[in-house]
Amino acid sequence: MLKKIYHLGYAVEDITAAARFYEEHFGARVGEPEEIEEQGIVATMFEVGESMVELVQPTRPDSPVGKFLEKRGEGFHHVAFQVEDLQASLEELKENGVELIDEEPRIGAGGTRMAFVHPKGAHGVLTELVELPADKG
Ligand code: CO
Repeated sequence: MLKKIYHLGYAVEDITAAARFYEEHFGARVGEPEEIEEQGIVATMFEVGESMVELVQPTRPDSPVGKFLEKRGEGFHHVAFQVEDLQASLEELKENGVELIDEEPRIGAGGTRMAFVHPKGAHGVLTELVELPADKG
């Protein structure tokens, strides 16, 4: 099911400061932040080899990432795995009793199709599955 680690998501208080940190100290090339209204976040990415790091700042305190920051502070938030066929992966997981946050794919940053698996069903790690437009012709 899993093709590769697509990105690691970091929850940050200030996406501009976090982006500058990785640019200045690690030579990262961080993209333009994109607001995803539905999730209450602004997000951006930088490449690390074949994978990426996603910086995520909440736009409202009651969004899932806002609540995460309040409870746990900044840090590692989720892993995103790239899959070939998101719909099929979700159906398979559901059949096998894995707890999902999103039973249907939704549109994430950059127009990708994505869905979250509940951390309770994944040994404590919030897990995102991503299908890239290019994967499905
Ligand atoms: Co993500």
